[in-house]
Amino acid sequence: MTDEANQVTDPFDLTGRIALITGGGRGLGRQMTEAFASHGADVVIASRKLDVLETAAAEIGDATGRQVTPIQCHVGHWEQTTALVDEVYERFGRIDILVNNAGMSPVYERLSEVSEALWDKVFDVNLKGPFRLATLVAERMKSAGRGSIINLSSTASVKPGAAEIPYGAAKAGINNLSVGLAKTFGPEVRVNTLMPGPFRTDISDAWDWEMIEREMKRLPMRRVGEPNEIVGAALLLASDAGSYITGSTIKVDGGMSEVVGGG
Ligand SMILES: NC(=O)c1ccc[n+]([C@@H]2O[C@H](COP(=O)([O-])OP(=O)(O)OC[C@H]3O[C@@H](n4cnc5c(N)ncnc54)[C@H](OP(=O)(O)O)[C@@H]3O)[C@@H](O)[C@H]2O)c1
Repeated sequence: MTDEANQVTDPFDLTGRIALITGGGRGLGRQMTEAFASHGADVVIASRKLDVLETAAAEIGDATGRQVTPIQCHVGHWEQTTALVDEVYERFGRIDILVNNAGMSPVYERLSEVSEALWDKVFDVNLKGPFRLATLVAERMKSAGRGSIINLSSTASVKPGAAEIPYGAAKAGINNLSVGLAKTFGPEVRVNTLMPGPFRTDISDAWDWEMIEREMKRLPMRRVGEPNEIVGAALLLASDAGSYITGSTIKVDGGMSEVVGGG
């Protein structure tokens, strides 16, 4: 079979698709940006730090030959998410894949000392932003007749540990949101949750590694995930390979949520 024929029949092929990945400049988001671009998509990456996005966009664009476009956006700010979606539609005319990946889990000393500002920020970034982006994009995807939305959740959404109670609650909202949106915007738009377990990224800098090492011994995979191990499931959900998958949660957690529980 020629390379050309292979491309046409590959269900994971994303040639000609436009993807928007929040937090696409580093961590799991960067891995998904690289994977989607390698499979033919042009990718818009959006987060707060424009310099990080610009560097990632140049590197991934050079490596893949695809267009990778950085746009600054704080996803916790309603009006910035509206502006982001408007800008992507103005520049590209459509979005085929939205990945609500940007997220954060700040540390706190005691639960009773969690401030209102911390609580609000955790919910704004992890839940409000994804809701706003998904609903703005899903309506247009439905009119266009096609779209896939992937919302990043966490093991903490089903097995929260003491260090991540507000974060786990916001991510539980993500699980719920995906199901509701899948029902609302199907059949044209598929909406799924990707539920990572422990991955070695910047987010894991704040972890109690002594506890993590102990927990890992009980994990079926006996280790944390490397960032590139998220891309198989992400490509499945983004592409036609996942054409009958919607309202689902795919766990990429080394078995953590079934066997060990959250941090
Ligand atoms: N790593 C894990 O073990 C793990 C486990 C479970 C779930 N997850 C989830 O997986 C997703 C990716 O995590 P990660 O480990 O790759 O995290 P990470 O390495 O800390 O990266 C977080 C990303 O989110 C962006 N971001 C943070 N706050 C933002 C805001 N207010 N507006 C826009 N972008 C923002 C960051 O970019 P800027 O700094 O430029 O804004 C960065 O690109 C998150 O939703 C996280 O909750 C991760």
